[in-house]
Amino acid sequence: MTQHWTPQAWRTHPAKHMPTDYPDASAVERVEQTLRGMPPLVFAGEARELKSKLADVEAGNAFLLQGGDCAESFKEFSADNIRDTFRLILQMAVVLTFAGGKPVVKVGRMAGQFAKPRSEPIETIGEATLPSYRGDIINGMDFNEADRVPDPDRLLRAYHQSSATLNLLRAFAGGGYADLYNIHRWTLGFVGDSPQGARYRELAEKISESLSFLAALGVTPESHPDLLHRVDFFTAHEALLLGYEEAMTRVDSTSGDWYDTSAHLLWIGERTRQLDGAHVNFMQGIKNPIGVKVGPTLEADDLLRLIEALNAKNEPGRLTLYGRFGSDKVAARLPMLMAATKRAGARVVWAIDPMHGNTLKANNGYKTRPFDRILSEVKSFIEIAEAEGVHPGGVHLEMTGQNVTECTGGARAVSEGDLADRYHTHCDPRLNGEQALELAFLVAEKLKGARQPLEHRKAV
Ligand code: PEP
Ligand code: CO
Repeated sequence: MTQHWTPQAWRTHPAKHMPTDYPDASAVERVEQTLRGMPPLVFAGEARELKSKLADVEAGNAFLLQGGDCAESFKEFSADNIRDTFRLILQMAVVLTFAGGKPVVKVGRMAGQFAKPRSEPIETIGEATLPSYRGDIINGMDFNEADRVPDPDRLLRAYHQSSATLNLLRAFAGGGYADLYNIHRWTLGFVGDSPQGARYRELAEKISESLSFLAALGVTPESHPDLLHRVDFFTAHEALLLGYEEAMTRVDSTSGDWYDTSAHLLWIGERTRQLDGAHVNFMQGIKNPIGVKVGPTLEADDLLRLIEALNAKNEPGRLTLYGRFGSDKVAARLPMLMAATKRAGARVVWAIDPMHGNTLKANNGYKTRPFDRILSEVKSFIEIAEAEGVHPGGVHLEMTGQNVTECTGGARAVSEGDLADRYHTHCDPRLNGEQALELAFLVAEKLKGARQPLEHRKAV
C-alpha cells in the first residue's frame, strides 16, 4: 500500500463495474458530501468485535454463517422481510451450533447489499436495448429508459433504508426476539409443515429440555442475558460502489484508524479483485474485517499476492476468502489454493459461496441454481478442507426467509416449471427458507462427520 492511504485514493486506480454514466457528476458529489455528514451505520468497536469472532473461526473454534438477499431492493423493503431473513439465520445457526458443537458467527447480507456487478453492461428485450440494472443504489430494475439512468439520489435512499433495517435488526438481536426461549417461535410459517420444519421442531424440543435443565440450575435469560437473551448479529455487503463506501468511511476516535461505517464486514467481488484496481486499494486502508471472492480463474500466486495486499500484517480475522467455483470446478481448483495459503502460513478464514458458480439458465429462460449443485459444492468444500488440514470456516449464501421458487430442487423438489410461481429476486436466485434450512442440516451433519477422529469414520 502507498504510505498515505486515504479513503479517496482509489479514485486514481482503474475501477471496474462502477457507473460512469451519471448525467450530472456534480449531483453525485453533492450527494456524497451529504452522506459524509450522516451518522455512521455501524461502530468501529463492533467491527473489531466481528474481527475477533472471525479470528475464532480462523482458529477452527467457530463457524461463519453469512446470508441474505443477492440484492436488497427498495420495493421489497418491509419489516416482515427483514424479520424472516433474520429468523431464518437464527434457525440455521441453531442447527449448526447444535450439530457442529461450535459457536456460529452470524452475518447478514443485509442493510447495505444494493450494488451489483453485472456480466453484461446492456440488456436486450425484443427490439430494445438498455443499460443493465445495477442494483437499486444505482438505477432502477424496470425495463425502460428512464429507470435505467443512474440516479445519485438512490445513494441517500439506500443509506436511509440501511439505517432503518439496522435499527430493526438491532432490536431483534438485543430486544428479546432472539431469546433462546423463543426458539419454537422462530419457525417460518411455510417451513413449519415441511420435513425441515419437523426436524427443526425436534431439535428445538431438545434445546428447550436443556434450557429447562439449565433454568433449574439457575441459568436463565435474566441471569445470563448475553448467552440466552440476545445474539450478536453483524451486517455485510459487497463494497462495489466506492463513492458511497468512501463517504461512509470515518476515522475512529478510539484507535485513530479508518473504518468503513456502512457495514461491519465488506467484501470484494470476483469481478473487482484486480491487485492494482480501485477496490483492492480502498479495502487496504479500512480496518474492518474484509472478504474477497475466490473464483475458478484465480491462480495460487495471485491469491497470495492478494492476501499480502489485503492482510499485510497477517492478522487472523481480518480476511475471509469465499471460494465460489461451481460444483464441477471446486475439486480442480480449491485444493491447490488451500494448500498455497496453508504453506504460506496465511491466517485467513476459508469459507464457501456455493451460489455464484452454480447459476444456469432453465429451459424456460429463468436464471436458476439447482439445489443439488449448491449442496455438492458445500460438501466438496468440507471434504477438501479436511484433506488439506484447513478449517472449513463457513458458508456464504444467497437466501431469503420468503417462500420463493428461484432455485430448483430441495425436499419439495421445485421444478423448472415451478420457477414462475414466486420468482421475486432482483438479481440472482436465492434459496428459500426451507431449502436454506435443509442445507443447514446437511452442513451440520457433514461437519459432525468431519469432527470425528479418522479411525472412527472409517469404521462407520
Ligand atoms: C455476489 O456475492 O452477489 C456476487 C456478485 O458474487 P461474485 O462476486 O462471487 O460473483
Ligand atoms: Co448474487
